Amino acid sequence: MKPLDPQKLPIHLAVIMDGNGRWAQQRMLKRIVGHQRGAETVKMVVEQSSLLGIKYLTLFAFSSENWSRPVLEVRALMTLLKKYIRQETARMMRKNIRYNVIGNRCDLSDDVNETLDEAIRKTAANTGMVLTLALSYGGRQELCRAAAHLAQDVVDGKLSAGDITTKLFDSYLDTGGLPDPDFLIRTSGEMRISNFLLWQLAYTELYFTNTNWPDFTINELHKALNDFQSRERRFGMTGDQITERGDLSND
Ligand code: FPP
Repeated sequence: MKPLDPQKLPIHLAVIMDGNGRWAQQRMLKRIVGHQRGAETVKMVVEQSSLLGIKYLTLFAFSSENWSRPVLEVRALMTLLKKYIRQETARMMRKNIRYNVIGNRCDLSDDVNETLDEAIRKTAANTGMVLTLALSYGGRQELCRAAAHLAQDVVDGKLSAGDITTKLFDSYLDTGGLPDPDFLIRTSGEMRISNFLLWQLAYTELYFTNTNWPDFTINELHKALNDFQSRERRFGMTGDQITERGDLSND
């Protein structure tokens, strides 16, 4: 496989980690076993991304719609999440990784929120990769929350409707302060966005693989990143303009 060009890595990598359930069902195992194995893949991708120098990694760990799953699966996923965060915080400290969470945290139980708060507080001064977990997250819900917050600020006289620009709107999103993802990987063969980062993915390069998340390996990650490095990102401009500008920023 072609070696990766460290200058051309995505600054922000986002991942829809799909296929845990199918991985387990294909092996006559309970779905939660698939999630447990999926958590091992999370460890690998976090470690590799940080080693490669990727600045932001955002993982879709639990969607707003996932609350409709069987109660036992939701409970098991929340227990797994707490366990993962408690176990991994020391490693995050060693690797200088900072935790961040997006999504509607009001939906999460107190113990999950306490675990998240502790991990966020402990890693707050870390200056390496920012690991964002999307939990109880839905893109449409995030856009509604941002619009409601903006509307309230207009009502309160803090700004007027004419002040609303894409940059201002950006700052009202859960992802305010994070750059838009450059690259999105979705595993398990599904080719949809599934309500993930709807606003932020406007110019993101998309990559789909048939591999289920528990089977996603370092090699697969490098293959995906190689694919990213072969893409020409134009942000609505022509290829010649991009060559002349010699940069790839989307601002
Ligand atoms: C999608 O697979 C995956 C999820 C809904 C949860 C993702 C959770 C993990 C990878 C493990 C825990 C996370 C962290 C951050 C430690 P699916 O169940 O929808 O698979 P299916 O489509 O095959 O049923």
